[in-house]
Amino acid sequence: MCGIIGYIGNEEATELLLNGLEKLEYRGYDSAGLAVFDGRNLKVAKSKGRLKVLREVLKNNGGLKGKAGIGHTRWATHGKPSDENSHPHVSTLRKFAVVHNGIIENYLSIKNFLISKGKKFSSETDTEVIAQLLEYYDNGNTLDTVVKVLNDIKGSYAIGIIYEDNPEEIIAAKKDNPLIIGIGENENFITSDVTAIVSKTKNIVRLKDSEIAVIKSDDVIIYDMNKNFVKKEIKVIDWNIDSAEKCGYDHFMLKEIMEQPKAVKDTICSKIKENEIFFDKFLFSKEYLEKINKIFIIACGSAYHVGYVGKYLFEKLFKKPVEVDIASEFRYRDPIVDKNSLVILISQSGETADTLAALRKSKQLGARTLSIVNVIGSSIATESDDVFHTRAGPEIAVATTKAYSAQLCAIYLLAIYFSRKLNTISLKKYNYFIKELIYLPEKISKVFNITEQIRNFSKNFYQAKNVFFIGRNLDYVVSLEGSLKLKEISYIHAEAYAAGELKHGTISLIENNTLIVATLTQKSLVGKTVSNIKEVKARGAIVLLVVTKEVLLKDEHNLKNICDFVFILPDICDEMSPSVSVVPLQLLSYYIALMRGCDIDKPRNLAKSVTVE
Ligand code: G6P
Repeated sequence: MCGIIGYIGNEEATELLLNGLEKLEYRGYDSAGLAVFDGRNLKVAKSKGRLKVLREVLKNNGGLKGKAGIGHTRWATHGKPSDENSHPHVSTLRKFAVVHNGIIENYLSIKNFLISKGKKFSSETDTEVIAQLLEYYDNGNTLDTVVKVLNDIKGSYAIGIIYEDNPEEIIAAKKDNPLIIGIGENENFITSDVTAIVSKTKNIVRLKDSEIAVIKSDDVIIYDMNKNFVKKEIKVIDWNIDSAEKCGYDHFMLKEIMEQPKAVKDTICSKIKENEIFFDKFLFSKEYLEKINKIFIIACGSAYHVGYVGKYLFEKLFKKPVEVDIASEFRYRDPIVDKNSLVILISQSGETADTLAALRKSKQLGARTLSIVNVIGSSIATESDDVFHTRAGPEIAVATTKAYSAQLCAIYLLAIYFSRKLNTISLKKYNYFIKELIYLPEKISKVFNITEQIRNFSKNFYQAKNVFFIGRNLDYVVSLEGSLKLKEISYIHAEAYAAGELKHGTISLIENNTLIVATLTQKSLVGKTVSNIKEVKARGAIVLLVVTKEVLLKDEHNLKNICDFVFILPDICDEMSPSVSVVPLQLLSYYIALMRGCDIDKPRNLAKSVTVE
C-alpha cells in the first residue's frame, strides 16, 4: 500500500529514486511523484498514472536536479488518483514535502484547524495535513517539529520528510507501516521495502513504531518520541539483486512460479535436520500442546487459503478444533479466544493491517500467537510470540505464488510436528511425511513438464466469461486459490465451489461450454467428486480435470472419457497435494492473463501489501 523511497548522498537523486520506485510499484501504482532539493528550493514532480508517466513528465520539464529527495508510488485511499492527490505533498509556503504510506484518521479535524489558520490545501488527501502541520509547528528545530506533528496525528503511517531550510537531512518516522533505512557509504536511503535499495546497499536498519530517524548523507540518528537517542543494530540482508530482477522472464509472476521448488526446499530444509523436524527458535512442549483447546488461523487473501489447508490438516492429524478466519472479520467479531488458544497468523508481507490488528487482539485476549511470515523483521513477525519464517525470498508480483507455497510448507511442518508430539500420528506416518516433504520440491518441478500443455489449453479458453473451480476437501481449498488467481490477474469472473455444494447454488450458472476446473487428488473422495463432475457435464460444461497420476491410473470411473481435458500431476500424499495441484492453476491464470493482454504483475486496483483497513 504505497511505496516510499528517499535518498541523500553525493549522486543525483532523481534516477536513484525512480529506480527505487520501480521496485516498489507493486505496493501501489495509480500515481507517483518526487521531491528533490535542488540546492536552493524543493522541486516537486508528480503525476497520475504509472511511473513511466512520471518519467515522461520529468523528461519534458528538464528533470529535477539535486542530491537529496523523496519519492512515492501511490495506492489511493483518500482522494482519487490525480496529479493533485499524488505525493509528495507540500506545505503552503513549500517549506516541507512529505511522502506517506498509511491513513491519518483524524485528518479532517486537523485540516479544518489548519484552514482556519490560513493554510491552503491543494489535495483531497489525508497526507497533506502532515506537510501543513509541519509548517504550522515549524520552529527551526526539525526533530522538535516532527515530534509535535506525530503527537497530533492518529492512525498509521510511514513517512518521509524533506525540509527546505534543512536540506542536509531527510526525516523518517513510522507507526504500523514498514520503513527501512539503507546505510551506504556517504549515502543513505529510506524505503518501504529492501528490494528498492538492495542494488545499492545490504546494510539496513528497520525503524520501529514511534521512532524518528534523522538521516544525513554520512550519519543516521534515531530518536524516540521523547527525543532520546535510540541505539539500533545494523542488519545485513542476504537477498541478492536477482531477487528484485526478472532475470529473463517476461513477468515476475512466472519467475516466482518457477522459483517454487526452491522456496519450498529452503522453507522445509530450514526445519528438517537428520530426518527430524525441529524448531530452534520456539518450543511447543507436549504439556503446552495438550492444553491447547482451539487453534485459530487468521490471514487475508491467499494466506487465508493456506489457513484453510491448516484447518483440514490440524483437525485430521492433530485432532484439535481449528477455526480459520479472515483477519478483517476476526478483528471485529467476538471470538472465544483465551489463554489456551493458539492463534496462528499467516502473512507474506508481515504488514497486512487487518492481520496485524488480529494479532494484537489475540494477544489482548491472552492467546499465544505464532506467525508464519516471509519478511523478516516485519511488524507481525516482531509482535507475535513465535515466528516461523518462510524462505520464499522477496516476492514482487502482486499475485502471490511462491510465498503461498512456502506458507503451505510451514503448515505441513507445524501440523506434523504437533501431531507427533502428542502421538496423534504414528512414528511410521511421521517418517513417511518427512520423506514426502523432502521430495516435495522435485514433485513441484515435475509439474512444470506440462507448462506447454497449459499454455495451449489457455489459447482456447482465454476468452471465457465465467470459470468455476470445484473440488472436495483440500481440492476445494486449492480451488479457492485457483479461482482467486484467475480473477486477480485475468479479470475473468471465477468462483470456487465445494464440489458437493455446487448443486445447492452455482449449478444454476452452468450452461453449454461453461469451463469447469475440477481438482481431484484426495483418493478417498474420487467417487464423490466424479458424481459432481458428471452433474456439470450433464448440463453442458467443459471440464478440465487436474488429477494425480495415481488416481487416473486406477480410473474406475472412466475419468478420461468423462472429462474434456486432463492435466496430470505427479503422485503425492493427500495431505500435501495442494503444493502440486496449485501449480497448474497458477500457470493457467498466468497464460490466460497473458493472452488477454493483462498487466500480470500489477493487476488493476490491487496492491501487494495492504497496510490499510
Ligand atoms: C493482498 C495481496 C494478496 C495477499 C494478501 C495478504 O491482498 O494481493 O496476494 O494474499 O494481501 O497479504 P499478506 O502479505 O498478509 O500475505
